[in-house]
Amino acid sequence: MGRKTIIDQFSYRGEAGEIWRGFDAFLDTEAYLNLGYSEERQSHAIGKPQYRLVAQVADALRELGVVPDDRLLDVGCGRGGPITVLVDQLGVEGIGVDIVPFNLKLARKHSAKASHPSYVLASATELPFGPDSMESFAAIDSLVYIERIDQVFAELARVLKPGGIGVITDLTVADEADPMADELVEFANAWGFPALRRVGRLEATIDQSIFECTSQTDLTNNSVGQFRRWTTRYRRLRQSPTGFILNAFANRLDLKLEAIDRQVETAHAVLPSLRHTMLCIERQDI
Ligand SMILES: C[S@@+](CC[C@H](N)C(=O)[O-])C[C@H]1O[C@@H](n2cnc3c(N)ncnc32)[C@H](O)[C@@H]1O
Repeated sequence: MGRKTIIDQFSYRGEAGEIWRGFDAFLDTEAYLNLGYSEERQSHAIGKPQYRLVAQVADALRELGVVPDDRLLDVGCGRGGPITVLVDQLGVEGIGVDIVPFNLKLARKHSAKASHPSYVLASATELPFGPDSMESFAAIDSLVYIERIDQVFAELARVLKPGGIGVITDLTVADEADPMADELVEFANAWGFPALRRVGRLEATIDQSIFECTSQTDLTNNSVGQFRRWTTRYRRLRQSPTGFILNAFANRLDLKLEAIDRQVETAHAVLPSLRHTMLCIERQDI
């Protein structure tokens, strides 16, 4: 599993790309690629759930002390929706990095008409920025794609100023689940993830770096739990006499339903073992 798989997935190539084309029909994937956030009463398809996750991150950054004109790095910025919102809500100078050229192409298209973050094609494990050049960072559902997150934190330690802070949201596995269980490995492979981590391992990696994890919020019911509802409905509809509706829908959008079936089945089996967490991070050298 490597960079090519991730680039293919987000550029709509191959099977994993197929499911993103499915998400396009419901979510604002022109700008956002994260798991989203919805309260119990909210729909996870309408009303911008992915924007809501970014709004949670903005609130957390504000509480950590981000102020206007700080430089904020968005690690794995995707298609630019999140950093644009963070710039608008916090008044920061936004810089996004991502390894997928197609994502950055869309990000640049958006920033032409909204606020103006800058975008750089680079890996989070090799940041092309000088020492002490940023005050803060966000990483929204991107670390799960990266095997050597120790390198990411080493790079963040280099580019963030003393006192630097950050907010991470990430997909992890429950403490009681075995990340190497067959169904979790299959799921990780289908999505281009390296082996999934327990949140404790993510925190331990952070604590071994110059950063410390100062708070943790469980978002699972607001995101992953909502997708379990989607997969449950999809499977029911697929097996019911009215399943032809999905065929018609897929034909209209030119989607390969068999590829989506496989992704949905793989995800449905593991969703109860997944966790979605928000972590606040502070540098410990002041
Ligand atoms: C699930 S998407 C989230 C995108 C964005 N943060 C959002 O909330 O919409 C994960 C992103 O991480 C990016 N990514 C994966 N590995 C990366 C790496 N090594 N360095 C930088 N970005 C990476 C992917 O290209 C993708 O855009």
